[in-house]
Order: sequence, then structure tokens, then C-alpha cells
Amino acid sequence: MFFLALGAALLVGIGATALLINIFERKQEARTPFYRVVELTDEIDDPAIWGKNFPMQYDGYKKTVDQSRTRYGGSEAVPRTPSAVDPRSVVAQSKLEEDPRLVTIWNGYAFSKEFNEERGHAYMLDDQTFTKRQEVVKQPGTCIHCHASAYTAYKRLGNGDIVKGFEALNQMGYFEARKEVTHPVACIDCHDSSTMALRVTRPAFMEGMRALKESEGVVNYDVNTMATRQEMRSFVCGQCHVEYYQGAGEEARVPWPKGLKVDNILAYYDEVQHKD
Ligand code: HEC
Ligand code: HEC
Ligand code: HEC
Repeated sequence: MFFLALGAALLVGIGATALLINIFERKQEARTPFYRVVELTDEIDDPAIWGKNFPMQYDGYKKTVDQSRTRYGGSEAVPRTPSAVDPRSVVAQSKLEEDPRLVTIWNGYAFSKEFNEERGHAYMLDDQTFTKRQEVVKQPGTCIHCHASAYTAYKRLGNGDIVKGFEALNQMGYFEARKEVTHPVACIDCHDSSTMALRVTRPAFMEGMRALKESEGVVNYDVNTMATRQEMRSFVCGQCHVEYYQGAGEEARVPWPKGLKVDNILAYYDEVQHKD
């Protein structure tokens, strides 16, 4: 009886100790949720460098090259013979071939030359650089805002002020602006380098949200300090996945000062005399 009780007490003791050690270890892990292999700064746009600290998220990021068929539709890899002006060897399916009426509907409009199914983020910069829409129209630098990691370019061009940098890029032609960027959207466009907190980096979105909130009676709305965490999870995507228009100076803006409904947007377009 005595030895049985001693054995049981020992087991409980060992179990409790193991649990304590485990709790302690998890607490340590929570303190450093990743291994800081490199020191990230607000100047590093290369996602491979961020990937050294966050290998799992970087793996996920790289998966945007996938173009395999799923039951949800989306892009499929269509082989293409590369040429001197367009080195892409794989593209997404052509919407113009899918529905040739579009070519007639868009006659005289750049979209009648090439319009494909959209595909993963890895391709955003190449697809924009090499689309035939570049060959028939002199596209503006504003195209870059949503197709590249533009944050460090804004900072460089604006001497630290991203709004000034945004405006500088708006004045450029496409190929001049293209020289200012190297990567498709990257970690730095959605994350603060020192805290990894989500952040909006596109001045047009910040401005658009301020105008929208003003129409709702909220003044000086700052998306990066006043949005909830749940809102930020959508807003980082909404920086690019939005209805936008090219203003009088070809600057890319979001048309929300009167609200988000189509009628509000059309009323705003009438006011600024924008046609598309
Ligand atoms: C810097 C602008 C930008 C941001 C920020 C952005 N996207 Fe995109 N996204 C694009 C562009 C441009 C494409 C189309 C790329 C192409 O077709 O080459 C795209 C494509 C996509 C696709 C289509 C993939 C496919 O295979 O059809 C999905 C889904 C998507 N984005 C989701 C998101 C989500 C979710 C977020 C936020 C976590 C986000 N995007 C943030 C610009 C952006
Ligand atoms: C406000 C953000 C934004 C701006 C500015 C923008 N794009 Fe995009 N672009 C997107 C998003 C989001 C997608 C993917 C979803 C879709 O196709 O609607 C995309 C898809 C594309 C694609 C791939 C699909 C296709 O049409 O073949 C090309 C090419 C493209 N854009 C070229 C351009 C050009 C050229 C400009 C400048 C006139 C431009 N984009 C400006 C956000 C933007
Ligand atoms: C288009 C925006 C966008 C880009 C680009 C992006 N992230 Fe994120 N990331 C998010 C969002 C949204 C979350 C979820 C945040 C939350 O839960 O509040 C997130 C979460 C994270 C987290 C927290 C842990 C987790 O997995 O939820 C880490 C770490 C992270 N991202 C690293 C990266 C790295 C490294 C890159 C570049 C290779 C990157 N992210 C690129 C939007 C982005």
C-alpha cells in the first residue's frame, strides 16, 4: 500500500513538473514568437529578407505563383511563346478569347487588345508591364500604386513623406515610374517593420477613407490609428482591390467623398466631371 501511494505521488509530481516546464516554455515562446534572424527596417522592401524572420508566412506568400485548377474557378496557366517585347512564358486565360464580343464592345479602348483573368500576386508587376494595353496607350505612373511594392519608393521620392512620394509618382509616365519599383506587393506594404502590425500604406486609400468618414460626420479620420483590427484585415486588401478612377492629373484616387453606393460614386464623378 505504502509503495503504491509513493509511486502515485511520484507520478503526480513528475506530471505537475512537466506541465509547469511546458507552460514556462510556451510563455518564453510567446515572448519571442519568431527568431529574429535579421533586423528589419522601414527601408527593406525585399520580401525574401523578411522571410528570414518569418519563413512560414514567406512560404505562403510565394504560393501566389500557383495556377493549378481548383473547383473555385480563377486563373489557369496558359503557355505562351515569349517574345522580345513580352517575355512571359505563362499567362492566365484570355477573357477576350472566352467572349470575343468584348473586342467589339471595347473597340478603340486599350482593353480590347488584352484582358486576362487576374492571377496571383506574384505576377502583378509583370502582367502590368507586359500587357498589350501598354503598347496602344501611353499608360501613367499611377498604375504602379496597386501593382508593386511601392512603399519604399514613396518614401524615397518624397524624402520620407509618403504622400509627397505618391504625388511624385503620379506625375511620371508608366515606364519612368516602373524604374522606381522592383517587387510585387510585399510584406512592407501591409506590415510595420518594427511591430508587424497591419498598416495601410496607400495615400489614396487613407485620403478616400478620410473623405468617406467626413461625409458620415467623423472629422480627421486616420485609418492607421482609428480602424479596428478586424477592419484593418480588410483595409490592407482594399488599398488595391477597389473601384478607382484616374483624376484630372491622371492621379489614381478612390471616389468615396459622397459614400460607397454606385449612386454616390456617380454623383461624385458628375461633380468632378470625370468620365470613363
Ligand atoms: C498592392 C496592391 C494589392 C494589395 C494590397 C492586394 N492585392 Fe490582391 N491583387 C492585386 C493585383 C494587381 C492582382 C492581379 C495580379 C495579376 O493578375 O497579375 C491581385 C490578385 C488577387 C487575387 C486573384 C488570384 C487569382 O489567382 O485569381 C486574389 C484572390 C487577391 N488578389 C486577394 C487579395 C487579398 C486577400 C489581399 C489582402 C490580404 C490582397 N489581395 C491585397 C493587387 C493587390
Ligand atoms: C486601385 C488599384 C489599381 C490600379 C491603380 C491599377 N490596377 Fe490593375 N489591377 C488591380 C487589381 C485589384 C487587379 C486584379 C483584379 C481584377 O482583375 O479586377 C488588377 C489587374 C490588372 C491586370 C491583370 C488582368 C488583365 O487585365 O489582364 C493588368 C494587366 C492590369 N491590372 C493593368 C493595369 C494598368 C495598365 C493600370 C494603369 C492604367 C492598372 N492596372 C492600375 C488594381 C489596380
Ligand atoms: C496584402 C497584405 C499583406 C502582405 C503583402 C503580407 N501580409 Fe502578413 N498579414 C496580413 C494580414 C491581413 C494578416 C492577419 C493580421 C491579423 O490577424 O490581424 C497578416 C499576418 C501576418 C503575421 C502574423 C501571424 C499570422 O500568420 O497570422 C505574420 C508573421 C506575417 N503576416 C508576416 C508576413 C510576411 C513575412 C510577409 C511578406 C513575405 C507578409 N506578411 C505579407 C497581410 C499581409
